[in-house]
Amino acid sequence: MIHATLHQLKVFEATARHGSFTRAAEELYLTQPTVSIQVKQLTKSVGLPLFEQIGKRLYLTEAGQKLLSTCQEIFNGLEQFEMSVADLKGMKQGQLKLAVITTAKYFVPRLLGPFCKRFPGIDISLKVTNHKCIRESMIANEDDLYIISQAPDQPDLNIHPFLENPLIVLAPTNHPLARKKNIPIEALNNERFIMREPGSGTRKAVENLLAENDIEVKVSLELGSNEAIKQAIAGGLGISVLSQHTIISEGTTGEFAILDVQGFPIERDWYVANLAGKQLSVVAETFLQFLLEESPDMAKRLLPGLGRAALNGNEEEAANEKVADEKMAAAKA
Ligand code: PGA
Repeated sequence: MIHATLHQLKVFEATARHGSFTRAAEELYLTQPTVSIQVKQLTKSVGLPLFEQIGKRLYLTEAGQKLLSTCQEIFNGLEQFEMSVADLKGMKQGQLKLAVITTAKYFVPRLLGPFCKRFPGIDISLKVTNHKCIRESMIANEDDLYIISQAPDQPDLNIHPFLENPLIVLAPTNHPLARKKNIPIEALNNERFIMREPGSGTRKAVENLLAENDIEVKVSLELGSNEAIKQAIAGGLGISVLSQHTIISEGTTGEFAILDVQGFPIERDWYVANLAGKQLSVVAETFLQFLLEESPDMAKRLLPGLGRAALNGNEEEAANEKVADEKMAAAKA
């Protein structure tokens, strides 16, 4: 392996990721024959086949898989080194890989604006997906930081809560329960319900609460997107349980009503997490500190309706909460 070059390892890593010489060549701006020659030379240095070709697709052999994880360690190490050097030079520079659950896309991009302004040398890659896919990314060690609202049993994580993420019952404004107060949870029995896809954390939390209360809803539709669910509710296809963040910018004045059902909101938080065994890069550490320090203030400015009092429609309590917040902000200033 002493004769293998960093360039060959890069070519191999891209080929393994795509399962194709052609796609690796496209990504690296090389010709397909160049890619295959580089992989051939690397295979010679290793002394064992790295790929098996079945039809058009390439599959990694056992040696190929081991080499791929070695490559990832080498590239991660080099990236970390680059960031540390930039830090020593007094610059925050490098790439931050973030993976966030679907509801965090309503908040995190707004936080990234001021972050990128403060640290213009940091590039961000943001992946938005559900809890199941986030767990897979964690296991594959694909990202620096994860935003979740339920921590999986495995892998081991360092987690910090940073903002509320309540789940509410959302219905169209003309729903018969829309004006009722303190609705018993049994009223949800046999309601037509729109459910998120399997693998969604929202779905898991809802299923747990319904099962604990022996409630059976009629799932009329299963959708993999919070926005699609909102459209289906507005279209009269049923009710659903979603994070309050999904409606915070439009509120409930238009097409939606939050049903005041007992047991709701399901109280949860967003957590920022990283793999326990992984050393955070300089830029990941910088973002983590920024997120923990800035998000409460930013949430107060951008999400004034997030407090529990506001959610329950108790205007007096909400007003008191607002006054208390303003006092705290004045005291801080
Ligand atoms: P989900 O997570 O996209 O996996 O449902 C969203 C949330 O828990 O807020």
